[in-house]
Amino acid sequence: MKILVTGGTGYIGSHTVVELQAKGFDVIIVDDLSNSHITVLDKIEEISSIRPEFEQFNLADVTKTKEFFNRHHNIMGIIHFAAHKAVGESVENPLMYYQNNIFSLINIMQNMKDKNIQNLVFSSSCTVYGQPAELPVSENSPIQKALSPYGNTKQIAEDIIQDTCKAYDTNAVMLRYFNPIGAHKSALIGELPLGVPNNLVPFITQTAIGIRKQLSVFGDNYNTADGTAIRDYIHVVDLAQAHVVAIDRMVNKKQKKKVEIFNLGTGNGFSVLEVIRSFEKVSGEKLNYKIVNRREGDVEQVYADTKFANDELGWKAKKTLDNMMESAWNWELALKEKI
Ligand code: UFG
Repeated sequence: MKILVTGGTGYIGSHTVVELQAKGFDVIIVDDLSNSHITVLDKIEEISSIRPEFEQFNLADVTKTKEFFNRHHNIMGIIHFAAHKAVGESVENPLMYYQNNIFSLINIMQNMKDKNIQNLVFSSSCTVYGQPAELPVSENSPIQKALSPYGNTKQIAEDIIQDTCKAYDTNAVMLRYFNPIGAHKSALIGELPLGVPNNLVPFITQTAIGIRKQLSVFGDNYNTADGTAIRDYIHVVDLAQAHVVAIDRMVNKKQKKKVEIFNLGTGNGFSVLEVIRSFEKVSGEKLNYKIVNRREGDVEQVYADTKFANDELGWKAKKTLDNMMESAWNWELALKEKI
C-alpha cells in the first residue's frame, strides 16, 4: 500500500512518514527541499529502519508531476503537505504563495483524476475560522475572510477540493490543524525554521539556547485570564498519527462523505504565558521575555472542538503541553550538539 507524501521532508511531513511506516505503509516522498533538508531522509531511516523513496521536484511543475505519475502506478493515496507556510512572507510575496500552493494542488488533483487515484488527505488550518464567534470552534463554524494570502491559499484550496471531489471520482479528508509544536521523541526530526522563527515555540527554544536574545510576547491586553492570546497547541506526533488514521480510513473505504473535514487539536487552550511557564518547568531554564504590542493579524483565542474527530476518526491527541515543550527543548538541544 503506497502513499505519496508531498512535503515529506518537512516538519509535519517527516513525522507523518515515520508514523505511516510504523503502520506498514510504503511511502514515497516528493519534496523540492525549498524549506527542508535532504538529511531528513537519513533521520527517518534511523528511526524506522526504512528509507522512504524520494524524488526532488516542485509539484507546481506540470511536466515533472505528470511524468512522476506516469512512472508510479501503485499510489493508493496522497497526503499533501507541500506548501509555503509563512504568514508574513505571504503578505510580502502573495503571487509566490498563490502560484506555489494553488498550482501544486490543481496539478496533483488533475493527475489524481487522470490516474484514478481516489484518496487525498489535505493539510488545512484553523486559520480558516479567523476569530470564531463561539469557542470551542467546531468544523461547522463559518469560514471567515482570510487575514493573509497564506490563509487564503488554504481557503481556496478547500474550495478547489470540494468542487473537484463533487465532479470526479476523487475523495478527500481535509484536516484543519491548530498549532502543531514539539518533535519526535528521538530528537532526530523536528521543526527547522528558516532564519528568525515566526512561531512561538521555536522562538522560545532558540531564546533559551542563546540564538535569540529575548522573546517578545505579543500583547498582554487580550480579554483572557492573563491577558495573553490563547491557542490550541498539539504535539506534532499526535497530529501525524491523525493523518495515518485518515488515509487508512480512506483506503479502507470507511468514509461517510466524499469530503470530510476534521479539526486536529487537543481541545485545550493555553495562553502564551502558560506555554512559557510549561517550558520553564520542563527545561529548568529561565526564559528572557518581555511584553510588547500585539502582532497584527493575531486572533485573541482559538481552540478546537475535537468531538467530531474523536468520535468519527477514533483519534484523540494524547500528549500534554509539558510533553510538547519537553520534546521541543530536547530537539533544540540535539540541534545544538550538531553545530
Ligand atoms: N507569539 C508571541 N511571540 C512570538 C511568536 C508568537 O507572543 O515571537 C504568540 C502569538 O501572538 C500567538 C501565539 O504566540 O498568540 C502563537 O503564535 P504562532 O505564531 O506560534 O502561531 P499562530 O497561532 O499565529 O499561527 C498559526 C499557524 C499558522 C497560521 C496562523 C493563522 O502556525 O500556520 O495560525 O493565524 F497561519
